[in-house]
Amino acid sequence: MWTVLKLLLLLAVCPAQRGICTEMKEGKETHQAPGHVSVVIVGGTGDLAKKYLWQGFFQLYATQVGSGHTFSFYGGGLSPDAQATPILFNILKNVSCSSDTPVERCALLRDQFLHLAQYRQLKTLEDYKALGQHIQEQLQGEGMVEAGRLFYLSVPEFAYADIADKVNSSCRPASGAWLRVVLEKPFGHDLSSAQMLASKLWGFLKEEEMYRIDHYLGKQVVSNILPFRKVNQKFLEPIWNRHHIERVEIVLKETLDVKGRIPFYDRYGVIRDVLQNHLTEIMTLLTMKVPESLSSSQVVLHNKLQIFSLLQPVETKQAVVGQYQAYNAEVREELNKTSNQFSITPTFAAVMMHIDTPQYDGVPIILSSGKMLDERVSYARVLFKNDVFCVQNPHSIHCKPKQIIFHFGHGTLQRPAVLISKNLFKPELIDEEWRELTEHKDATVLGLPLSDFYAQAPKVEREAYAELIGHILSGRKDCFISAEYLLASWGLWTPLLDSLLSSYPRIYPGGEENGNLLDFHLKRNEIGYVSDDVVIINPEQMGGATAESFQVMQGKFRGDDMVSSWGEELLVRLAMDLEAAAEEAVSEGGAFHLALSGGSSPLALFRRLAEHHCAFPWRETHVWMVDERCMPLRESESNFHSLHEHLLQHIKIPYYNIHPMPVLLNQRLCVEEDGGALLYEKEIAHTVNNSAFHFVLLGMGIDGHTASLFPRDKAHEKHGESMVALTESPVKPHQRMSLTLKAINNAHRVGLLVMGKLKHELLTQVSRVKDLPNKWPVTGVHPVHGKLVWYLDYDALLG
Ligand code: BG6
Repeated sequence: MWTVLKLLLLLAVCPAQRGICTEMKEGKETHQAPGHVSVVIVGGTGDLAKKYLWQGFFQLYATQVGSGHTFSFYGGGLSPDAQATPILFNILKNVSCSSDTPVERCALLRDQFLHLAQYRQLKTLEDYKALGQHIQEQLQGEGMVEAGRLFYLSVPEFAYADIADKVNSSCRPASGAWLRVVLEKPFGHDLSSAQMLASKLWGFLKEEEMYRIDHYLGKQVVSNILPFRKVNQKFLEPIWNRHHIERVEIVLKETLDVKGRIPFYDRYGVIRDVLQNHLTEIMTLLTMKVPESLSSSQVVLHNKLQIFSLLQPVETKQAVVGQYQAYNAEVREELNKTSNQFSITPTFAAVMMHIDTPQYDGVPIILSSGKMLDERVSYARVLFKNDVFCVQNPHSIHCKPKQIIFHFGHGTLQRPAVLISKNLFKPELIDEEWRELTEHKDATVLGLPLSDFYAQAPKVEREAYAELIGHILSGRKDCFISAEYLLASWGLWTPLLDSLLSSYPRIYPGGEENGNLLDFHLKRNEIGYVSDDVVIINPEQMGGATAESFQVMQGKFRGDDMVSSWGEELLVRLAMDLEAAAEEAVSEGGAFHLALSGGSSPLALFRRLAEHHCAFPWRETHVWMVDERCMPLRESESNFHSLHEHLLQHIKIPYYNIHPMPVLLNQRLCVEEDGGALLYEKEIAHTVNNSAFHFVLLGMGIDGHTASLFPRDKAHEKHGESMVALTESPVKPHQRMSLTLKAINNAHRVGLLVMGKLKHELLTQVSRVKDLPNKWPVTGVHPVHGKLVWYLDYDALLG
């Protein structure tokens, strides 16, 4: 018969688990009256339970023997008892004791643990009611005082609210005992879904009853970042600022792929999976103000939250994303997708942040993580500026990087540790549970020998889940994610995630072969990949489509030339074509006349030209505008302004070769009588041979407009022989100045750049119709003597 063993054995009680999420060393744990605790793992035979949770609860049980608490454990699941019971016991048989536990004692503990556990089907409300009743009867039958009930929901997020509802209505303990419901991420996929989930759960549970797990908060080095900063405050305070810190890096590198987790992963990607939670937690711990005392979790939380209000919004240009090459084939296999469906979910990302305070102004904070990288390691390092110039002996210690490394695990060191460069200061040990690390002499950390550091490590290593499970029992809410923190974090990440929706990840082969493909460089407010190499996706790994479909495709579109490929490669190709056209024009006539459009599609092209085309003959290039919005040029919405921001200010082009459109004349914008359009037309006629540009770069709007020639404007009829005209846009700002179809079709070469899924539908329509320039002005583009090339990315072409 199943019964609760009351353990009267006088086994030594292990020391209280410390795991200092915010350092509770001054003994502020919630007072826990001893009594009976019922632990229910919903999803008790799932992967996480198998790998970590049962082991963690066993450890909890082992450390609590003799503490006055008694336990019963329930593994819950949807399967019927007969089917799942053997599975559960198979898992439970394999739990292990800490290395210092004598063998006989370990066997005894395991035996007791098995006796205290049972499987229960938890599907319907009746099942939960029956469980509630069972717990009640057991308490009464054995005359036990109840301490509390712990429900660990190791189930997908969509099931949370329903289970919380059932627990609330049928499994609440009587007053005096606690209810704690533990939740695993994800907690939403953006700000609004996280808000929605939180409000649903608040309908059934109080905030103090919810324990949202971030297992990184259970890692020993993570939970000791603040204590380390506190203990070493006298050394750190003078240097923990922009005058001394070069940058902060928070890195989680993994070697594995995501096979087996694709239904989850493909909807989330690396940013949601680890940056929004684990790495953000670390970032706040490193940058927050260290409170006077670490014992108040409210003050700690307040200071953590303050960081979110000081962080500058993260823009698209502050992130790079990548995807390992085999990912799409795995997606197809696991999600049964067809071979022409592509996922652009990133499996690698690096994001740069800035904190807008005098303390951190200009200090880049980099969060980076990826699957299928060359090694498994996670760390955060604060790299300090080193102003020592070593004339001789570059190996001497003061010539080396000055840094503090919080080494969370793995890597060549294979253990948690905190390392401080010997040319910084000799740190205090965090506390009596830490010791100097003297072994691992041969290990290197971030390329430097361990002997370059003062290193300290925990005396006893503890697994993060086990640590956190201990904190749930002690009611240590500070080791878990509060709703406020969660929403603040989503508030930070959601705009970036939205802006990356149509960004193409750089494809990387995986492992050592990645070489320097994912290296990125930092500019003040921007990061970008260092190398230009683009990996052409191997069709076999993409799911067996033909090779041609993944090379740069060349063909015909509406009877004109077409180039198509993934976005990044398309821009590489277009930039090369532009440079070739420039060289040809300069060698033939000494000048290159280039007319550029506004809009967002060409911005990445402009940056590429600025950064990678050093040999571009800018001195001989004249830059003209295809169209302009009627607003002062310094306004950020002006086309000239973004051209200036993304290209002109970065290149050496003579001032007199730049030709903005004269939208502002006589202190007013785009007034017909002021003759701005005519003025521009004359400037073209004076400077450009036969008014024929060498290259006109156009885009296409989702309504079929090109340049600022909009549908139903009858532009080609109205403008007659004009080369430049004032036009009307249906969207704000309504007034525009634009090259006419006549000017465009007079060019030697026209490039029509169309990118993104949003354009797919229109592109499909346009591909089938004859010229209808009133309906779709883009169909009126036909250079009379020149050539039109469509540059279409796969998203626009294939949707
Ligand atoms: C999990 C992510 O939260 O953290 C995984 O879902 C990731 O994708 C893991 O592998 C990393 O944790 P650790 O402890 O192995 O560094």
